[in-house]
Amino acid sequence: MLDWEELIKECNNCRKCGLSNTRTNVVIGRGNPKATILLVGEGPGEQEDKQGLPFVGPAGKLLDLLLSALMFKEEDYYIANIVKCRPPNNRVPLDEEAEACLDYLRNQLLLIRPKIIVCLGSTAAKHIIGKDIKITQIRGQWVEKKGYWIMPTFHPAALLRDQSKKILMWEDFKKIKRKLDEIKQSYKGDYHDKR
Ligand code: URA
Ligand code: SF4
Repeated sequence: MLDWEELIKECNNCRKCGLSNTRTNVVIGRGNPKATILLVGEGPGEQEDKQGLPFVGPAGKLLDLLLSALMFKEEDYYIANIVKCRPPNNRVPLDEEAEACLDYLRNQLLLIRPKIIVCLGSTAAKHIIGKDIKITQIRGQWVEKKGYWIMPTFHPAALLRDQSKKILMWEDFKKIKRKLDEIKQSYKGDYHDKR
């Protein structure tokens, strides 16, 4: 396991998959490195590639709006993606690209030690929960795996295309907020300090 400094350096120099040929920036993550919630998207889009930060384009604006409307605090979460380099034309990352990149996300998971993992969309859900899942069937239901509470939900970009998903995603994030509040109550402070 690498520490943050080593991990960031390794990601920035990474050429483990073909996405390294077309990226501008490697997008590692943003948010609290000791967050209770880890949100995982698919891969950087155009804005993310330019700025080197995840979810800073239109989908990110919508996600931030949802999180702040439900009273999540910025310190509650950290945001990352399945792949750290932008797939050309925002295509879905290939399995081999995701597999090449996932060790970095696993390393981030070990460093952050969240209690809740939110899979934003089917790419994240496939690589985190299981390859045969259908997001429309499993969204909104907690999956307990390896000591984490995992919530699959829609990708915020899907909401931009289909307004009818808004209410469902809102419901999913209400469940996540409830779980976060329970965790905060039961630990009475930051559990990261209580091994
Ligand atoms: N979509 C994603 O999946 N991730 C981002 O960082 C931005 C848009
Ligand atoms: Fe490396 Fe991941 Fe970028 Fe591929 S997507 S080059 S594995 S950092």
